[in-house]
Amino acid sequence: NKKGFIFDLDGVIVDTAKYHFLAWQNLAKSIDIDFTHEQNEQLKGVSRVKSLEKILEWGNKTISEELFTSLMGKKNEEYLSFIAKMTDEEILPDVPRVLDYLIEKAQPISLGSASKNARPILEKVHLLSKFNAIVDGNDVSKAKPNPEVFLIAAQHLNMKPEDCIVFEDSVAGVQAANTANMISIGIGEKEVLHEADYIFSDFTEIENSFIEELINR
Ligand code: G6P
Ligand code: MG
Repeated sequence: NKKGFIFDLDGVIVDTAKYHFLAWQNLAKSIDIDFTHEQNEQLKGVSRVKSLEKILEWGNKTISEELFTSLMGKKNEEYLSFIAKMTDEEILPDVPRVLDYLIEKAQPISLGSASKNARPILEKVHLLSKFNAIVDGNDVSKAKPNPEVFLIAAQHLNMKPEDCIVFEDSVAGVQAANTANMISIGIGEKEVLHEADYIFSDFTEIENSFIEELINR
């Protein structure tokens, strides 16, 4: 039995969601926009360009194309400065255990992330070699909640969408998985991720026996 296991990156594999938040918050502050935690929740899984568009919309601001480009560059620079200091300890709890269990069971594994920084981050925390395929922000034209990223991942794994399982921490990502006709597993808060087929607060709650059940579904 084989299923395709697709993992989002930020907030699922590594604790980078906090760095995205800090970088967006600083950027918003620099152009006099208030940026709240609830708003940040809506940016999870959302591409860099779309995120800035939303922040400007919430702040009722229009800016020149030039400033837009330079702000995006600044955000990523600050984000990358956080990433540069990352260590393996920022891999979220029990993620390596689940990945290794899937590998032991010969299950195909793909990344399905909106981030254009996915490869360097996975390299940095020494997890890149665990993946059979990497699909990230450089490969897609339509951002989550559009299912494109997960559908491409399924193709790379040679699996039908209905035989794929997606781990996601964002509302947009859960919606993308559902639209792709995949099983969605929300990692985070029940109240936020209620559209997911299953919800766990983190991977420590996901037992090998549950993974086994998913494989044999
Ligand atoms: C992930 C994160 C988002 C981020 C997006 C793009 O989906 O959850 O917060 O905006 O990736 O990431 P990037 O590294 O390309 O700016
Ligand atoms: Mg995420």
